[in-house]
Amino acid sequence: MEYTDINLVEDGNTRIIYFNREGHLNTVTEHMVDEIIHAMKSVVDSSRSIIIGGRNNFSAGADIAQFQYIDARNAYDFHLKLNELALFFRNYPRPVISFLNGYVLGGGLELSLSTDIRICSRKAILGQPEINLGINAGAGGNVILPSVIGRNRALYMILTGEKITALQAYDFGLVDLLSDDPEAEARRIAEIINNMPEHAVSITKHAVNTSTDSNIELKLDYEAALFGILQSEKDTKERIDKFMQKKRSK
Ligand code: COA
Repeated sequence: MEYTDINLVEDGNTRIIYFNREGHLNTVTEHMVDEIIHAMKSVVDSSRSIIIGGRNNFSAGADIAQFQYIDARNAYDFHLKLNELALFFRNYPRPVISFLNGYVLGGGLELSLSTDIRICSRKAILGQPEINLGINAGAGGNVILPSVIGRNRALYMILTGEKITALQAYDFGLVDLLSDDPEAEARRIAEIINNMPEHAVSITKHAVNTSTDSNIELKLDYEAALFGILQSEKDTKERIDKFMQKKRSK
C-alpha cells in the first residue's frame, strides 16, 4: 500500500513510522490513523519493534479543521478512532517507542502516552491545549495522563492548557528519557530490545498491560462520549471557528 500521511522505513529488525504531514505540524487525521494501523499490521511478523515520530514535530494534535462542522455523534466517532490507535499501540505484541520532537500537543501527546517508551528532544514543547477550544483532552488525556503523572499534575496541564518544556515533562514523569537526538536514542533502545528473547518481550508487555490497563476501553469510551457532548456546545463551535478564521486570515 502507498502511504501519504506516513512513511514506513525498514531499519534492521525495527520498522520506523514517520508522520508525513510536517506542513500541518503532523496534525492527526482519521486517514493517518488508518495508515499507521495498516502499516503496523503489515510488519508485525517481520519486525521486532516499532519506532514512531516526526522529523521536526511529533504532532500538534488532532487537525482542528475536522471539528468545524461535526456534530456530537461524529465527534464521538472521531475520538473512537484515536482510541482505536491508542489501544492498538498498547496491545501490539512488539514494543512501540516514540521519539518526540518539536510540538507534542493534544492528540499527539495522548497518542504518545500509549506508546511503550517515550524519548523526548530537549527542545520539545508539550501540552494539552484542548481546553482553549472548549473540549476535553482525547484518547486518554483524562484517563491515561493522570495515571502517568498523577491526578493533580494532569489537572494542571488539562485545565490550564499551558505548554511545558521537555525538562518539566521529564520532571513530571511524562517522558521517559531526554535526548539531543531522540530518534537515534530510540534506535539504540530498540536494538537492545530486539536482541532480547522475542516471546519474553511480548509476554512482558502483556503482563504490564494487564496490571495497568484495567477497564481502559470503557474509560476511554466514556471520555469519547464527553468529547462528543462538548463538541456540540455553542461556545466550543465559536472557539473552533475563531481558530480556523485566524488561520485563513494569515
Ligand atoms: N489543527 C489544525 N491546524 C493546526 C493545528 C491543529 N491542531 N495546530 C497548528 N495548526 C496550523 C495553524 O493553524 C497554522 O496554519 P496556517 O499556516 O495555515 O495558518 C500552522 O499549523 C502553524 O501554526 P502557527 O500557529 O502559525 O504556528 P506557531 O508556531 O505560532 O504555533 C502551535 C504552533 C501548535 C502552538 C499553535 O498553532 C497551536 O496552539 N495550535 C493548536 C494546537 C491544539 O489546540 N491542539 C489540540 C487540537 S484538539
